[in-house]
Amino acid sequence: MSIYTELKQELKQILKNAGYEVETLALETSNRRDLGEYQLNDAMQLARTYKQNPREIAAKIVAELEKDDRFTNINIAGPGFINFSLSNEYTYKFLNEINKDIFNNIDKKEKKTVVIDYGGANVSKALHVGHLRSANIGESIKRLAKTLGYNVIGDAHLGDYGRPLGLVIKEIKEEYPDLPYFDENYTGDYSELDLPITNEDLERIYPLASNKAKEDEDYLEEARIITNKFQDHEKGYYELWKKIVEISKEDIKKTYDNLNVSFEIWNGESDEMEYFDDLLKICEDKGLIVESEGAKVINVATDDDKYTVPPLMMIKSNGSKSYDSTDLAAILERKENFNPDEIWYVVDGRQSLHFEQVFRAARLANLVDEKVNLEHIGFGTMNGKDGKPFKTRDGGVMSLKNLIELVNNETYKRIVNESITEEEKQEISKIVGMAALKYADLLPFRGTDYIFEVEKFADLEGKTGPYLLYSTIRMKSLLNKANYTDGTITKLNSETEKDIALTLLELPNVLDRSLNTKTLNEIAEYLYKLTSVYNKFYAENHIITEENAELKVSRLTLTSIVYKVNMLLLDILGIEVPEKM
Ligand code: ARG
Repeated sequence: MSIYTELKQELKQILKNAGYEVETLALETSNRRDLGEYQLNDAMQLARTYKQNPREIAAKIVAELEKDDRFTNINIAGPGFINFSLSNEYTYKFLNEINKDIFNNIDKKEKKTVVIDYGGANVSKALHVGHLRSANIGESIKRLAKTLGYNVIGDAHLGDYGRPLGLVIKEIKEEYPDLPYFDENYTGDYSELDLPITNEDLERIYPLASNKAKEDEDYLEEARIITNKFQDHEKGYYELWKKIVEISKEDIKKTYDNLNVSFEIWNGESDEMEYFDDLLKICEDKGLIVESEGAKVINVATDDDKYTVPPLMMIKSNGSKSYDSTDLAAILERKENFNPDEIWYVVDGRQSLHFEQVFRAARLANLVDEKVNLEHIGFGTMNGKDGKPFKTRDGGVMSLKNLIELVNNETYKRIVNESITEEEKQEISKIVGMAALKYADLLPFRGTDYIFEVEKFADLEGKTGPYLLYSTIRMKSLLNKANYTDGTITKLNSETEKDIALTLLELPNVLDRSLNTKTLNEIAEYLYKLTSVYNKFYAENHIITEENAELKVSRLTLTSIVYKVNMLLLDILGIEVPEKM
């Protein structure tokens, strides 16, 4: 349990000793530090419950607080606000506990199993900016939930099942008509065949095929037919499809690796569709499947809908299985394999209607227990300066690789460390570039759009990834220079040091709220706040050169705590810290 939560429980006991009971304590940090570091606002509510004068209640509580030497500067303001501060001894004690084990400042949650669906890259298509957001936000939410004690299973949920693959195979057929995959009479072993196609070829082929299909109805129709063929495991087409998935998956894995994003499970939509027949049977048995213009759908609208919720598409009129059904099948698969308490989907906010349909259908079909929480964690878009989703200069979709390169070039320019080699500089600018991009992406509330401003993201000053890395590395090198391994805080003497302590006490609340709202902006802001107040302290005080030995160890220990908290939070944000920069 965190020290802050412990403190709240003890304050509740103090209220009880004064004769009052509360469910949750109204404790806040005060913005008038001179009046007291904390404000306890329960007297007003208690006045209503106990029908007494709030100032009298406050006075009784104060009398109890005064018996406890952990609290100082106790006073009553206004109608019954109680201000108080923490004694130095108590502050040192909790800081030392955090230094011993950072988890003394974190509240673990009840154990829960969660499947988190993020990533969503599409086989044979280059990853784009939207995939960055899903991967980045999803990975961080996963790390946060793990830190707080959940059992979390991340699933990449690759898009490997839809028409894009049909288009790619159609184009391969045009370019290589003689491949044995297209020969009905081929009797050999497909696994021994070599496909003369690389991932770069695939990334070229998809846009080409997609453009052709826009202009040529026959081309599109054949791509549709091919989609049905590989979905139905038809000989040749199915094997070629598998080969394409294999080639593309290897490249996708590398990209996620560069992003410091890793999945427990690498399922694709196709793996989920192994459950489709079972799913269809369940839905049919429940009488949910309706024929509509040749398609099979599930009606999910209700009478009190405020907007139109169209039916969920199970099988399209042309026989292909739809994107809707892949997500519904996935729920069945996840239920069978993990029996999760919750399933979270970190997917572009523009897909909210799709998830509304899927969740409603899942409830109608009773695919999971009522208690199981299905949640779409939507996010906004990364926009260009024109306010529209960020594009390449000629208006095309910005690939993730190009975006990363853009940022790396910017961070490269700003690394001016004389003592590193060119090669090191290249390596470091990649790590710093990734931090710049990831931090900028996590800083706004996830639901809002934000503007890609590379100069700002890469800046060494301000709310940026590079600023946090630079500061954190400096803390570490300070500790190294001082040969600091361990110590205790027994003496501190400035306002700024107290500020650091009080900021540290806020950590469990920040983590708790972040998990509840599943957004990382508060953690990103907190990192900046803690780092800035530490840097203020660093500028104001001697640390290594401090002559008073007690003060020196105390300040180094404070540095060590901030360093550890920064490392933990950067890790939650999926941001790596280089050795130097
Ligand atoms: N592959 C999809 C896309 O690129 C995203 C998949 C999102 N996840 C899901 N369970 N539907 O748009």
